[in-house]
Amino acid sequence: MSDQQILYLSQADVTEVNLDMATVISLLENAFREKGAGKVEMPPKPGIHTMPDAFIHAMPAYIPSLQSAGIKWVSGYPDNQKRNLPYITGLLILNDVETGIPYAVMDCAWITAYRTGAASALAAKYLARPESHVAGILACGVQGHTNLEALKVLFPIERVYAYDIHPDRVQRFVEEMSARLAVEIIGVKDPKQAVVQSDLVVTSGPILKHPTPTIQKDWLQAGAFGSAVDFDSYWTADALSQMDRISTDDHAQFQYYKSVGYFQTTPEPYADLGEIVAGLKPGRQGPKERTLAMNLGLAMDDMAVAPEIYRRAKAMGIGTWLTL
Ligand SMILES: NC(=O)c1ccc[n+]([C@@H]2O[C@H](COP(=O)([O-])OP(=O)(O)OC[C@H]3O[C@@H](n4cnc5c(N)ncnc54)[C@H](O)[C@@H]3O)[C@@H](O)[C@H]2O)c1
Repeated sequence: MSDQQILYLSQADVTEVNLDMATVISLLENAFREKGAGKVEMPPKPGIHTMPDAFIHAMPAYIPSLQSAGIKWVSGYPDNQKRNLPYITGLLILNDVETGIPYAVMDCAWITAYRTGAASALAAKYLARPESHVAGILACGVQGHTNLEALKVLFPIERVYAYDIHPDRVQRFVEEMSARLAVEIIGVKDPKQAVVQSDLVVTSGPILKHPTPTIQKDWLQAGAFGSAVDFDSYWTADALSQMDRISTDDHAQFQYYKSVGYFQTTPEPYADLGEIVAGLKPGRQGPKERTLAMNLGLAMDDMAVAPEIYRRAKAMGIGTWLTL
């Protein structure tokens, strides 16, 4: 019989650890620097697909410098909203790098929400104008919240335009986020209003294989930055072809998604975020460039953050110890 102990962290436990966004961003920046130097092992994610536009992905990664190895088994189901269930759900396992033995299992909703927001902000650090102070959030779900929270850590945000197809979600977003971040948030009824006036635009609606995109050419202003958390679902081919610079977070995964039908009208990214953070490729080159981050979401992002959550939970006495 095994006497190996693993720490189980429920969604409430991970939330209670309450890792701050600035730390999440800095953990990701270190990990992307390692990736740029070729020091991360991360095979493209395999997945299964039980419903249209839905996925369950296996996301393993090993970051030697952080002694972090593990896997996230994560589902994304666009129709869950109709059942009052979350879009993204799943579990994450951490393995000891010397023995391979699992030492933690945790719910992955918090990590997915926070690391994705942090990855947008990190891309913006290199690709947006530093004085950017107006943000546009299109889709006020989980990602809308954490993307804005992360941008607020790195940019002097004063005003936010928020749009969602469900007006009640916009209303809740305005109330909650203006109180939390102490910024002016204006709910808008037309998606264009959230783009044309903004320096930083995040789109975080459903990822669709055959989308009918919303954002047209010239909506994103010269000098502005976009983060397409929902792949190319929100941006028309004309809007994408107008970008001076499109980055991704991983070339191999971008090619994989392209081969299975996504990104058919997206120009080839000039760099991945690791190359930019490591200084191998330049970021923004002047105040007039239109830039876009197409972050696909990497296992490495999760494995950069999960060990820190484990360490803090252990120190705080949070979670349930189980026998393997
Ligand atoms: N790239 C990544 O790393 C990454 C990571 C996690 C999630 N995602 C993606 O981010 C998206 C959002 O995830 P979430 O957890 O925030 O989901 P969520 O269900 O919490 O939020 C989605 C929001 O989109 C709104 N919406 C639906 N259609 C819309 C439209 N046409 N225009 C504007 N708003 C619309 C919904 O009303 C809802 O508020 C999903 O597509 C998910 O797959 C990407």
